[in-house]
Amino acid sequence: MFEYRAVNKKYAQEVLTQLRNKETSQVEFRKGLVRLGRVLGLEIVEDFETEEKLVETPLGTIYKGIRIKDFEKVCIVTVLRAAWPLTEGLVKIFYSAKQGVIAARRAEEKGMHNREFDIEVNYVKVPKMNGDEILIISDVMVATGSTLIAALKELLKRGRAKKYYIASVISTPVAIEKLGKFAAEANIDLKLFTIAVDPELNDKGYIVPGLGDAGDRAFGT
Ligand code: URA
Repeated sequence: MFEYRAVNKKYAQEVLTQLRNKETSQVEFRKGLVRLGRVLGLEIVEDFETEEKLVETPLGTIYKGIRIKDFEKVCIVTVLRAAWPLTEGLVKIFYSAKQGVIAARRAEEKGMHNREFDIEVNYVKVPKMNGDEILIISDVMVATGSTLIAALKELLKRGRAKKYYIASVISTPVAIEKLGKFAAEANIDLKLFTIAVDPELNDKGYIVPGLGDAGDRAFGT
């Protein structure tokens, strides 16, 4: 099963506009990613089921509240490096999450063929999956979808989660289509949450209008 949701909230769109602005400094860019991580976390949590929870207040009254189911089963996997600040924001919401990291890069020297790059996954460190975890993959720019699919394949080699979410800032229609096909083939429940869907990729694989190289802009390289 695959679904995607674009978060068209005013706050998210205002922060995204700051990120798109080429005049935005490195520090403000990084802070913007943290803010969007919180927004995405709050949107993703809306997708979780809840159950009734009774608590006694200091005034001696019983309050009928809620508990978010599976909240403690969340594991956030950061696709290095640009998603690091995005994860910082996600962790503010999913404060009890386990965490993992994946390092992947485009094998640039081979060039882009049919909107595809060869992807080298060179580091994976993730908690073991037992089938009941909620895995959130944090990846700022979902351009071709190839990096995410390579990451998902690596994760699936290490066990299955109950549900998979992708938290991203900008995605493209090409990537959304590819992720949908992959979710069906791999038989996983996958939902992509993104702040925007941009129409195109240029011949270097950058999203247009996009926001440039998110890693370089966040880390000042
Ligand atoms: N990665 C980026 O940082 N920017 C893009 O536009 C595409 C991939």
